[in-house]
Amino acid sequence: VQFIDKYGPWAVISGASEGVGRAFARQLAERGLNLVLIARREGPLRELADGLTAEFGVECAAASVDLEAPGSSERVAEAVGARDVGLYVSNAGADPHGSRFLDLDLEKWQGLVNRNVTNLMRCCHKFGTAMRTRGRGGIILIGSGACYGGAGHLAVYAGSKAFSLNFAEGLWSELRPHGVDVLYMALNMTDTPELRRLLGSRGQLVPEGIAQPEDVAAQALGSLGAVHLVNWGAADEEPGFAPTSASSRRLRTLAIDAASSKVFGD
Ligand SMILES: NC(=O)c1ccc[n+]([C@@H]2O[C@H](COP(=O)([O-])OP(=O)(O)OC[C@H]3O[C@@H](n4cnc5c(N)ncnc54)[C@H](OP(=O)(O)O)[C@@H]3O)[C@@H](O)[C@H]2O)c1
Repeated sequence: VQFIDKYGPWAVISGASEGVGRAFARQLAERGLNLVLIARREGPLRELADGLTAEFGVECAAASVDLEAPGSSERVAEAVGARDVGLYVSNAGADPHGSRFLDLDLEKWQGLVNRNVTNLMRCCHKFGTAMRTRGRGGIILIGSGACYGGAGHLAVYAGSKAFSLNFAEGLWSELRPHGVDVLYMALNMTDTPELRRLLGSRGQLVPEGIAQPEDVAAQALGSLGAVHLVNWGAADEEPGFAPTSASSRRLRTLAIDAASSKVFGD
């Protein structure tokens, strides 16, 4: 089966205007998918959309939505309209603050939770429902190695990424029988404009040899449907920066799934 037959005709990408999201947009356009591109800044989105249409002949819609705002999932739904979405890529999700929990205004943290937890969950419900009905589709959640444990300056961020990892594993387990593939991609440092801005604001340079957005997107698209979790830089059997390997988490998810199915039935 061709990628577009399984995951087309439309893909929705959050955080599409730069970095990893932009790399997804280009690689999906190359595969012939039409795109709904979401971010706050409309200018870079429009430019990307027009460029991809000119180069690959795909349709591209650009929607300026602040995913931190309450009700953002409804704005996403409005932007998508009646389009037939076969792939949802949730990419926007970095922590621009790098602050201790109590040293930042609570509403800033609430915005991060709105974007990384609430909006993500609601969009997965919307797109997942249509995919399950259709019996095909894919959901890619871009996460972080921070999903495996907390640390100072990362309390809310790591908590939100732990949510998305566990949420993804549950979705993977539930949607597998319906032909819908779910992938969690736990990134290590990746050379995005956002990382450069964050490090630059602290007078630091981007370290050499870190992941490139194009490689991250290519690995995610190549892994969708084959595995449920990729730890960037680590093979399926290696823990890497995580306490357990991707494959041992998969076995754990399946074992708990078998036990919970006995309790909850189908
Ligand atoms: N870069 C790394 O080293 C690294 C490491 C581990 C994990 N990750 C993960 O990789 C993903 C991408 O990270 P990133 O470094 O590229 O930074 P990011 O801020 O998550 O992503 C940048 C993209 O998201 C959009 N965006 C950010 N906030 C938004 C909001 N409130 N509403 C709508 N769009 C928003 C940005 O466009 P606008 O500014 O126009 O809205 C831009 O297109 C994130 O999930 C992050 O947690 C990154």
